Amino acid sequence: MLTLPSAASQGKEAVLDKHQMAPYHDAPALAICPPRALFLKASQMGNLVVIGAQWGDEGKGKIVDILARDADAVVRYQGGSNAGHTVINDRGTFIFHLVPSGILYRGTLCVIGNGVVVDPASLIEEMDHLQGQGVKFGKNFVISQRAHVILPYHKAIDKAAEQSKGSRRIGTTGRGIGPSYADKISRIGIRMGDLLNPTAFRRKLEENLVEINWFLEQLYKVERFEVEKVYQQYMGYADRLRSHIVDATMLVNRMVDAKKTILFEGAQGTHLDVDMGTYPYVTSSSSTAGGASTGTGVGPTKIDAVLGVAKVYSTRVGSGPFPTELTDEVGSGLQERGKEFGATTGRPRRCGWFDVVVVRYATIVNGFASLAMTKLDVLDGCKELKVCTGYRHDGQLYRDMPADLQMLTECEPVYKRFKGWSSSTTGTTSYRALPSEAKRYLQYLEESADCPIDIISTGSKRDATIVLRNPLKTRSRTRKG
Ligand code: GDP
Ligand code: IMO
Ligand code: MG
Repeated sequence: MLTLPSAASQGKEAVLDKHQMAPYHDAPALAICPPRALFLKASQMGNLVVIGAQWGDEGKGKIVDILARDADAVVRYQGGSNAGHTVINDRGTFIFHLVPSGILYRGTLCVIGNGVVVDPASLIEEMDHLQGQGVKFGKNFVISQRAHVILPYHKAIDKAAEQSKGSRRIGTTGRGIGPSYADKISRIGIRMGDLLNPTAFRRKLEENLVEINWFLEQLYKVERFEVEKVYQQYMGYADRLRSHIVDATMLVNRMVDAKKTILFEGAQGTHLDVDMGTYPYVTSSSSTAGGASTGTGVGPTKIDAVLGVAKVYSTRVGSGPFPTELTDEVGSGLQERGKEFGATTGRPRRCGWFDVVVVRYATIVNGFASLAMTKLDVLDGCKELKVCTGYRHDGQLYRDMPADLQMLTECEPVYKRFKGWSSSTTGTTSYRALPSEAKRYLQYLEESADCPIDIISTGSKRDATIVLRNPLKTRSRTRKG
């Protein structure tokens, strides 16, 4: 049985003791929406799923890092190294792709759940890089035996399929995510546990490569993969990762039963979810709340609340409809001030105004109990702000997210205008200190997204945060009556 990490099992350099953290900053609640939450015991910590409300890169890493101070475990439940989660503290800048954003705390167990697709090469590279930054990987880091493996042919198929799609390409990260999940659903996937059984691994690899090599050579006209080479390469990875591969489902469930505080760290965002997003311009996993359950094996009745993370404007990387996209200098201004370049691929992110339709839909499909709003400081100095309140299509006004992609592509956003603010909000830690225009803007977002705001982020650093309520201290949320 795996024991929980002890302080002694971790290094000192980049790892913080929880008591070294600054206290939460108290501020009055916005209290525009009647709180959806029912506070049973404020001192009791709960489990919390943290999910992007838009198209990813909302600042989930920063929010998870702040909340992880109080968590016993941080669990990734879907996606793979397509994710790029940034945490900035006074020890430096840390970018996580597969490693959960709780790794910077001493005594926090970090888990890669069964719903994640793991590229061992990318994981080892990330671990090496983080170790260079002073992060230690011991018993504090585990990977589910049931998580699927990304193999080199998944990346080759991802790239070749994108190329063959031409202008209809999805704009994937090229990390092999879609093809790996396709194998999982087709029941030919190879799992992390298979890496520990060389005979089974070799047999599965041999079987898969018969079909895959045919596709690669005949359809995509790219090079085939040799069994022996891939086998040797992956047995090397197995040696390095062996001590971390466990039955994470039982481990996490035991922690839940022991009333430990667990954060489920979502990757991507609601509108990139394979079911709920702007299909087919989505990723291949369930990034919405249900994915936290299937991606870890923790039943939905054991999860207490869901926190949505949204930027106070919108961004999207890759192809796909984006109704409020700004292709003018206002958009490039947001891109520049918000440093909107992908943490994984470095690609520029498309930027646009905040879209209420997008975030309200995310509130509904995830059952958000509350929101963390990020990047308020990026709007400093904007004379005027716009918020999309609905879509016009064929003379009709729509307030809900259309499932029809054609319609979403053709619709005209309907905007409400807001006066901007000229003073700086960067690093503000108190709600009271915000300019009145910023408060009015946030109050409108809270009201129209139909979800109370718990956290406001005013800069990329850990401390540049206004915490109105700690979402981890809220138990047994009830739906608004
Ligand atoms: P994630 O994928 O949701 O974790 O988000 P990313 O890390 O990919 O992108 C968010 C970027 O915004 C990162 O560079 C963060 O350091 C930065 N960031 C997060 N919150 C804020 C904020 O409130 N203000 C500013 N200016 N930057 C922020
Ligand atoms: P985090 O966790 C933003 C996008 C890609 C592409 C689509 C499918 O950092 O928010 P994939 O490689 O997953 O098959 O690509 O999804 N995408 C992301 N966009 N943030 C992410 O992760 C993303 N992960 C995937 O750009 O449009
Ligand atoms: Mg990101």
